[in-house]
Amino acid sequence: MHVLAILDHPNPASFSAAIAQKFMEGAKAADHTVELADLHAEGFNPLWSMADIERKDDGVAPPDVVKEQERIARADAICLIFPLFWWGMPSMTKGWVDRVWSWGWAYDQLDDPEKSLQRPRSGVLLIPAGARSDEIENEGYLAAMETAWTKGTFGYFGFSPRKIELLYGSTGSLIRRQSLLEKSYQVGFTLPAPKRLEET
Ligand SMILES: Cc1cc2nc3c(=O)[nH]c(=O)nc-3n(C[C@H](O)[C@H](O)[C@H](O)COP(=O)(O)O)c2cc1C
Repeated sequence: MHVLAILDHPNPASFSAAIAQKFMEGAKAADHTVELADLHAEGFNPLWSMADIERKDDGVAPPDVVKEQERIARADAICLIFPLFWWGMPSMTKGWVDRVWSWGWAYDQLDDPEKSLQRPRSGVLLIPAGARSDEIENEGYLAAMETAWTKGTFGYFGFSPRKIELLYGSTGSLIRRQSLLEKSYQVGFTLPAPKRLEET
């Protein structure tokens, strides 16, 4: 498969960047080809603007959005790597999702709320999070993310199968971080093939 990894972190020495590297190592070891979209390094502009709105009228997306859509078109599997910020996505990832997966290209919920306009792609979110698993699960944050993202966002985009991999305790001990890096390698190594939605 061809795998697209989307990294959202301004610091190349961050834990998130190391997670992306491990994920890509695992994917390559499984004989996949890998492309990295390093959003900060590439200077992606996450601000949704009039240029995005006007696209609806003339059907032409802004060039930076077209570039990302071409990357997606090449990919059979997509992995987003971003640190959990206030139980949500950092603004760079949020803007990338808002601008790139646009209405009429990615989805058209007026036509069919369950149907993506994109072919199925295997999708995974690798999310370093400072909190412990019991806090995130018991307080309902994980359930909220599953609803908003697994069901409500990436479903529209044709991610199938799709899952959230929360990397709990990402600011913890060296041993803890080592185990999260190993887990990320395994996520890359065991990436499932895309499936049509009715098969999942
Ligand atoms: C602005 C901000 C908000 C954060 N919000 C959360 C949060 O809601 N839940 C959580 O578990 N960790 C939260 N964290 C901790 C980050 O997820 C953690 O520092 C990050 O995963 C570490 O990765 P990095 O070293 O690559 O930055 C937050 C950190 C920052 C800077």
